[in-house]
Amino acid sequence: MTELENRVALVTGAAAGMGEATAHALARAGATVVVSDVQEQAGEAVVAAIREAGGKASFFRADVSREEDVAALVTTTVERHGSLDCAVNNAAVRPDTRPLVDLDIDAFDRVIAVDLRGVALCLKYELRQMQAQERGSIVNIGSVSSQRPRPSNPGYVAAKHGVVGLTKVAAIEHGKDGIRINAVLPGGVDTPMIREARAASGIVPSDEFALSLFGRLGTPDEIAEASLWLCSDRSSYVTGHSLAVDAGYLAR
Ligand SMILES: NC(=O)c1ccc[n+]([C@@H]2O[C@H](COP(=O)([O-])OP(=O)(O)OC[C@H]3O[C@@H](n4cnc5c(N)ncnc54)[C@H](O)[C@@H]3O)[C@@H](O)[C@H]2O)c1
Repeated sequence: MTELENRVALVTGAAAGMGEATAHALARAGATVVVSDVQEQAGEAVVAAIREAGGKASFFRADVSREEDVAALVTTTVERHGSLDCAVNNAAVRPDTRPLVDLDIDAFDRVIAVDLRGVALCLKYELRQMQAQERGSIVNIGSVSSQRPRPSNPGYVAAKHGVVGLTKVAAIEHGKDGIRINAVLPGGVDTPMIREARAASGIVPSDEFALSLFGRLGTPDEIAEASLWLCSDRSSYVTGHSLAVDAGYLAR
């Protein structure tokens, strides 16, 4: 599959989980992928694995909550590889765990800083570059929590609702520029994040399995497929959309 041949993609939070799977999927489709994360060693390992499989990739360390990091990520991507055609804004931290009456404002601020401010900053610099190129496709990773809140994750739910809001604003502002911006809303997916969240909240696997109509968690590859489609020209008439990949969780 070479539908992203000669395209340059960046993926944030690509050292693990869905970001890692997405970086691999975009590289398999022919894109040159900038793997970005705060975890350098793990990020470099993803680059090595992509290259070993015959793909093209490089690593850039960026904390998406820091504007100077995000600006440097986009500048470096273009300096190294010549353009920025696709971006998957995936980086996030695991949800806060207390109800509003016990609000842990530090945990709230941390989740908002990475999961919402991080997406806004990435959009700012990615859109500037794509505007100059007059083309591009961006995927923001939301969550089923973007549409259906669960209790005791106030920061995460607010941030993920915000991700859908930012996606719509970006789509409205840049339809005329040939830039498409969409969101993917994963259900429960088997990644380090859900394993850590499970350990922190005490939610047992049977509760999570009950969330989907398939009785199982999704795989990172199943989410990566949706982002790949939205990055590619096969979704050329789709923008401002939120695509749930959740085994029917939001259908109930
Ligand atoms: N796992 C799930 O069940 C699930 C469900 C719905 C939505 N999501 C969303 O999917 C996306 C990927 O989640 P995952 O489960 O693969 O997570 P993960 O924790 O497995 O991986 C997230 C990656 O983001 C990186 N990261 C964290 N803070 C960062 C920062 N400030 N700057 C740059 N990178 C940073 C981490 O180092 C890690 O490599 C997230 O947006 C998450 O909210 C996950």
